Amino acid sequence: ITVYVPSDTTARALQADRVAEHIARAAASRSVDVRIVRNGSRGLFWLEPLVEVDTPDGRAAFGPVTPGAVDSLVESGLFDGRQDHELALGLTEEIAYLKQQQRLTFSRIGIIDPLSLEDYTSLRGFHGLRAALARDGQSIVDEVKTSGLRGRGGAAFPTGIKWQTVHDEAPGQKYIVCNADEGDSGTFADRLVMECDPYMLIEGMTIAGLAVGADQGYIYLRSEYPLAHTILNDAIARACEAGYLGDNLLGTDKAFHLEVRLGAGAYICGEETSLLESLEGRRGLVRAKPPLPAIEGLFGRPTVVNNVLSFAAVPFILDQGGQAYADYGMGRSRGTLAIQLAGNVKRGGLVELAFGTSLLSLMEDFGGGTLSGRPLKAVQVGGPLGAYLPESQWDNPLDYEGFAAFGGVVGHGGVVMFDDTVDMGDQARFAMEFCTVESCGKCTPCRIGAVRGVEVIDRIRAGENADMNLTLLGELCETMVDGSLCAMGGMTPFPVQSVMEHFPDDLTPRHARVA
Ligand code: NAI
Ligand code: SF4
Repeated sequence: ITVYVPSDTTARALQADRVAEHIARAAASRSVDVRIVRNGSRGLFWLEPLVEVDTPDGRAAFGPVTPGAVDSLVESGLFDGRQDHELALGLTEEIAYLKQQQRLTFSRIGIIDPLSLEDYTSLRGFHGLRAALARDGQSIVDEVKTSGLRGRGGAAFPTGIKWQTVHDEAPGQKYIVCNADEGDSGTFADRLVMECDPYMLIEGMTIAGLAVGADQGYIYLRSEYPLAHTILNDAIARACEAGYLGDNLLGTDKAFHLEVRLGAGAYICGEETSLLESLEGRRGLVRAKPPLPAIEGLFGRPTVVNNVLSFAAVPFILDQGGQAYADYGMGRSRGTLAIQLAGNVKRGGLVELAFGTSLLSLMEDFGGGTLSGRPLKAVQVGGPLGAYLPESQWDNPLDYEGFAAFGGVVGHGGVVMFDDTVDMGDQARFAMEFCTVESCGKCTPCRIGAVRGVEVIDRIRAGENADMNLTLLGELCETMVDGSLCAMGGMTPFPVQSVMEHFPDDLTPRHARVA
């Protein structure tokens, strides 16, 4: 009998390790031969720990399982996959939240043991790499262009064009850098990939190396992800041993080497140029662009910098063809988006869908509304630099151009929900305050503007010259948008401006509102 107990950070935080121990003990005391597989999470977080059991019809699911519930589960026939318990959820693949998704990148996640090469290769793992090894760099770049893949870190720059730029630079040392400094509020998709399907990232980066002629890669990982750190290092060692990394990739004369580097807790190190500074051993200070990293990146050499999810999409594209990926999506937003539902939400988790789904459907059909049961008031999409969206904007389909048209940001796909108890004035202040803490300090509009922004918001909320200070805040926001060197200062005003436009009552003096 095979029982699956997830081992990612979320499941572990919810006592999955103890659940696994209890299951092992219950099996031993009943002399039942049980194999416990520590798979990754399916991303249905409100059901974690989601325990599964192999049955002739597929895996049967139970959740959320607490250590204390294990005995009664076993008594009611857990090891036979019997669905007689109140935590029984039916066949995993039939759970609507999962069934209604279009999982291309996350197709193996939660199914496999993350470090098992056998599991990975049994589900088309390294098929993309094999296809890439049989092609030249330009034809790999062309395939990625055909897919329409755009940077999933947030900026949505066409990945194929970025790779073309690096490919076209003169041969010599080039680098592949993975931005795994997942810093946006409410986001966890990169972490899920790294903890639950690490070979997919390794494969995607290796394919990128083959495409542009780079034989060295670095994963810049945030230090807040210790489990991902261990898993990635372990996966890299195993992949090297099995010939999927290193010299002579799969017996060819091609090479690709990969190392993990840890960040040190600075949000700005997710910005690609300060990430490169940090990788080179310096303080994470933003560099002016141009030159683009694609031309002068790590150690001054041509460098592909992509997010985890961008690389993770590539094995599918090389295996199934760029067109198969481009068949999903709408307009210029091709393929799928990993949406992360978080904040005040009943069913938080990972939802991979083709671009074009409405935000409302995501928050209601998948998310089930707010956890508090109170009416939803605002939603922030795209991290701490994304606008707060009022109800009138929830019907819009989720795609890059559509969102940009009304000042929204898709970003890294994080969706953070707030109920009607939220004070949007506090949220506006938080946006500015966040920037004061995380600014790298290189340019004035951001370094000083954010500090002044907090002060002006405080004055508005204290009722001091509210009209004049609101005008001042508007002008300050414009200055930051126009004059900042990078997205940190350039986008911090977005949430503030959205509060000014859509939730002006929350910016009136506190005492006036109370009265
Ligand atoms: P950007 O628009 O300056 O650049 C996007 C990417 O395209 C960069 O890698 C750039 O080097 C590359 N690029 C641009 N023109 C190119 C060309 N002609 N050839 C080759 N490459 C080219 O945006 P940036 O500053 O890199 O990112 C801003 C975005 O980051 C925001 O939109 C925000 O959504 C997102 N973000 C994501 C976070 C996360 O945790 N994932 C955190 C904070 C912001
Ligand atoms: Fe640094 Fe802020 Fe300027 Fe970006 S906008 S370079 S984070 S000071």
